[in-house]
Amino acid sequence: MHMNSHKVGIDRLKSMGQGQTWLLTGGAGYIGSHIADEFIGAGKSVVVYDSLYQGLQSRIKFLEDKHQVEIPLVQADILDYKKLDETIKKYNIYGIVHTAALKAVGESMEKPDLYFEVNLTATIELLKIAEQNNVKNFIFSSSAAVYGSPDSMDLCKEDGPVAPISPYGDSKYQAEAYVEKFISKPRNRGTSLRFFNVIGCGATPELLDNSVENLIPIVINKIKAGQSPVIFGTDYPTEDGTCIRDYVDVRDIARAHLAAADSPNVLPTKINIGTGRGVSVHQVIELVLAGLNSTNTPVIETDRRAGDPAFLCADVSLSKTALKFESRYSLEESIASIF
Ligand code: UD1
Repeated sequence: MHMNSHKVGIDRLKSMGQGQTWLLTGGAGYIGSHIADEFIGAGKSVVVYDSLYQGLQSRIKFLEDKHQVEIPLVQADILDYKKLDETIKKYNIYGIVHTAALKAVGESMEKPDLYFEVNLTATIELLKIAEQNNVKNFIFSSSAAVYGSPDSMDLCKEDGPVAPISPYGDSKYQAEAYVEKFISKPRNRGTSLRFFNVIGCGATPELLDNSVENLIPIVINKIKAGQSPVIFGTDYPTEDGTCIRDYVDVRDIARAHLAAADSPNVLPTKINIGTGRGVSVHQVIELVLAGLNSTNTPVIETDRRAGDPAFLCADVSLSKTALKFESRYSLEESIASIF
């Protein structure tokens, strides 16, 4: 009697998505740690697998204190397939969120082989290991970089043209095909989420973006160092001449993963995660300057950076209908969360 009610309790927890253990590759990274935060908050257990090459152990410590839980951290490389296999077995993994990757577009031009090995080959191997261990859930971090440099000002649609222009974008695009093959097998579930420009940190400095690759961190670092931010190109065919992007808050990215993990529906194989709103480089810089009380700082305008499309924004209708997901944070809120 006692045993039965205990079992019913466990079954009910499982049906609510609790009691599941998710492996978060890259879980000590900027995006991965926000996903860990969201999943733990929703009652899931997580195991973090991270080389700490770019990930930070301090993020895991922060989350352990915040949630009063222990988060196993397996410090190993994503190319260490034996360790991946052991970890999945040891923790009886229910699903995998695969964010571990290299993400510097410029660097990918110089080191294409490395990018294909880490972003594509390792994803293929991880899918094989998942299959061998009967893991049925897989959510893959893809990117708006799969769309390359569209020459139109149309919102990017998942079933529209895809034409990556960097090894980074190409590695993500090719990996999506393997994820698609995996999730189309009987009883397997998951999707590839195509992130647009991810920003913000949710007022938790511990979970800030520690890379120095993207517009907002670059601008903040410059201003803090007493230097001028630089705009790459002011002659684009946009209203103020600067490039337009879709900046989506990292907390929204994390919520999209939870929605995908808990979705009762079969998901489309690729889903854009953005806001659907375009903002120019000029507007972003103005907001950051205002946030740092530095509106008098001069802004330098230089030539275009090679490979930058004028306009790259998400059509978010599929994420609304299929994933029941909508972004919540405005650009102002995201930027305010960083200071
Ligand atoms: C690129 C990738 C994206 C990837 C992201 C992460 C493409 C098409 N997009 O986004 O998929 O997820 O990197 O690394 O490959 N800018 C300035 N001054 C600066 C820095 C940037 O004007 O000092 C401008 C850029 O020209 C661009 C915008 O700011 O128009 C955003 O740049 P960035 O943050 O580097 O991201 P993307 O290139 O849009």
